[in-house]
Amino acid sequence: MPNDEAEQTRLNIIHQIYLILLDGELLKAPLQKGPSRVLDIGTGPGDWAIELAEQYPNAEVVATDISVFDNGPSSVDLPNVFFQLEDAEGEWTYHEPFDLIHIRGLSGAFSDWNAIYRQAFHHLKPGGHIEVADADIAADIINMPNARNSYFNIFVSALQSAAEAAGYPRNQEHLRPAALTAAGFVSVRVHDLTVPIGVWPEEPRQKTLGKMALIALLEGLEATSLRQLTATGNWTAEAVRDLCEKVKAELVVASGMTARVRIITAKKPIPKTRTWRQRYPPERLREALRRLDIHDEQLQNEIVDPP
Ligand SMILES: C[S@@+](CC[C@H](N)C(=O)[O-])C[C@H]1O[C@@H](n2cnc3c(N)ncnc32)[C@H](O)[C@@H]1O
Repeated sequence: MPNDEAEQTRLNIIHQIYLILLDGELLKAPLQKGPSRVLDIGTGPGDWAIELAEQYPNAEVVATDISVFDNGPSSVDLPNVFFQLEDAEGEWTYHEPFDLIHIRGLSGAFSDWNAIYRQAFHHLKPGGHIEVADADIAADIINMPNARNSYFNIFVSALQSAAEAAGYPRNQEHLRPAALTAAGFVSVRVHDLTVPIGVWPEEPRQKTLGKMALIALLEGLEATSLRQLTATGNWTAEAVRDLCEKVKAELVVASGMTARVRIITAKKPIPKTRTWRQRYPPERLREALRRLDIHDEQLQNEIVDPP
């Protein structure tokens, strides 16, 4: 993906769409209290991280990205948000654990999501939450009426095969509950939200969402495809731009189009304290008494049947 001004604006719009979808909230994770340490992976222009840092002034927010945006967030003057240049596919070297790890819009960024989730699990406090959100247009999330013979379908298929060939799949596999439980997470909750795309909705809030989503979608066509498709060697830049124009023409007039956004949250379990009986099961105690050659029946009963 580019990291120019156009991409920054597109991500700003997508951030606003998420805010509307979440009724002004930044999160779906059911936090019990304000977090003290938060990690935002692939923060982009940093809208989410900055707003979270403003909302929780006592929290330390670490916001990382593999690249820096043109008008990057380094100019932000907040004492509790720290932007770091980091590749999340490398080893995470944070010295203190987090209460919350947020990963949004990273579909296609990782070759191995399981490894990302294992590191996230390791770097969370017991009881800490992970929240992952995505709405990647290449991940079959757009429902376009009469799409069967569309340029849009060609576009999505081309992106999927290019991503697959590059080893960085663009799909929703990482948003399955099993992807998180495999890393040890519990209390997994899935939130599937529908966003209208286009000016077709009647209801004012939906219409606003629809317009914003259409702009973000049109703006993102070339950004999400140019490098990915030309890298395959099967597409020239001119052919990609031509396809994008054709897709654009279809999308602008499509009525009833919607997108599915998935947000998944989960928790790192708090280890249960073992009971007296679990720690010292009767068989172990009886065995110990036998080893000590103690055969007093009353003592045996008292020890193995604690109050
Ligand atoms: C679609 S943007 C999402 C930005 C932000 N999370 C949001 O929701 O507004 C994806 C971001 O992930 C970053 N990214 C991609 N691969 C990454 C990696 N391996 N490690 C860290 N960041 C990465 C990109 O540079 C880009 O800023």
